[in-house]
Amino acid sequence: MFEAPRGTRDFPPWEMNKRRYVEEKIRDTFKIYGYREIQTPTFEHLQVFTLKSGDAIIDEIYSFKDKGGRDLALRPELTAPVVRFYVEKLQMEPKPLKLFYIGNCFRYDRPQKGRYREFTQAGCELIGVDTPEAIAELIALAYNLLRNIGLKNINLHIGNLTILSFLFRKLRISEGDKKEVIPLIDKEKFDELYIFMQNVGLSADEIEWFLDILKTDDISRIPISDEIEEEIERLREIFRFLKDIYSIDCKMKLSIVRGLDYYKDLVFEIEAPILGAEKQLCGGGIYELIPLFGGRETPSVGFAIGFDRAILAAESEGYKFPTVYIDYYIIPVTHSLLSESIKIAQILRNRGLLVDVDLMRRGIGKALKYAASINAKHAIFVGPDEYEKDAVTIRDMFTGEQKLISIEGLKNL
Ligand code: HAM
Repeated sequence: MFEAPRGTRDFPPWEMNKRRYVEEKIRDTFKIYGYREIQTPTFEHLQVFTLKSGDAIIDEIYSFKDKGGRDLALRPELTAPVVRFYVEKLQMEPKPLKLFYIGNCFRYDRPQKGRYREFTQAGCELIGVDTPEAIAELIALAYNLLRNIGLKNINLHIGNLTILSFLFRKLRISEGDKKEVIPLIDKEKFDELYIFMQNVGLSADEIEWFLDILKTDDISRIPISDEIEEEIERLREIFRFLKDIYSIDCKMKLSIVRGLDYYKDLVFEIEAPILGAEKQLCGGGIYELIPLFGGRETPSVGFAIGFDRAILAAESEGYKFPTVYIDYYIIPVTHSLLSESIKIAQILRNRGLLVDVDLMRRGIGKALKYAASINAKHAIFVGPDEYEKDAVTIRDMFTGEQKLISIEGLKNL
């Protein structure tokens, strides 16, 4: 006996129905906002991922040598592959370039509910523009994608790495210390952060001041300085667009730092509190990767939604996914009418209806039970007496009501 590898999942038909439904909703929403779908390979040269993050990332991904000795990796995310694709083939396309993708990703994570080793991301990259209206539209898209899947209780937080770096400079926090401080901020371990900052020689007043700014959602509490004036103005404008035009409730949260190394300036996250520990549904922001991949410098911003977590969150909130029905289940009443039954199935299938026919040669009772189990709306009995009169019996599977219908009449069902 084999089991699926740790952190991977099999999806039975009823789960796939939900996944395809959500996928279509996501696809439609991306298109409504002017995004076009792309696909990149499931594996890339390992360097695509180590270029920015360094070799440390190798511990977190599935990397391997192929038979030709090349170093490859299953993609842990799609931003770096999309940038690789952009620099290789799409740089000359008119801007802005609005690209979206839905694809599986692989991370050597410790599996738990909502965290898998193979999971799906639905994301997008906006290349060539970073005006406040462009960023506001992108964030509104992320939020509305999740709302359109049926989620009600989600929180959107916006952070800013330029402002955070300015605060670090003001506090004279060294590059080395930043590496210790950032993970503590990310995990909101403010007590540990306090102690660390004390140990590097900051005064209680300075630490309190810093923690206050990290915890506030009030932009006016950020100290005024020429260095970040423009950044703050842009942030204000983005908030204004989101609140006044898109009617989206969002909060500033400077403790959002994001785990990936390529972000700069604005970053954002959307969480579903109902999920508990693994509640982050979406993450994104402005990033810098294109020049690193050899491309001409141009603004880039994007996000990715954890598809599996979004489904989990919708279900936890009690969202009912629509049942997928089949239109007709055809039951030959006697074996001699098998060919006629299949012919009828083909008439209906040729009209694009979802039709199944009993292939097991079972009795009517058992066939009906099976029809119910696959969510058939109607059963059609092909019986000798009716068939002689060019008719069949059609049964409504919900009410049990039965009526005779001519075979000619089936063509107009
Ligand atoms: P990320 O925050 O690493 O960002 O991943 C995005 C989302 O993928 C997360 O918010 C989470 O919902 C989901 N996710 C991550 N790891 C797992 C896992 N092991 N199991 C299930 N779901 C998971 C990125 O990947 C960036 N590429 C987003 C981006 C696009 N930034 C700019 N453009």
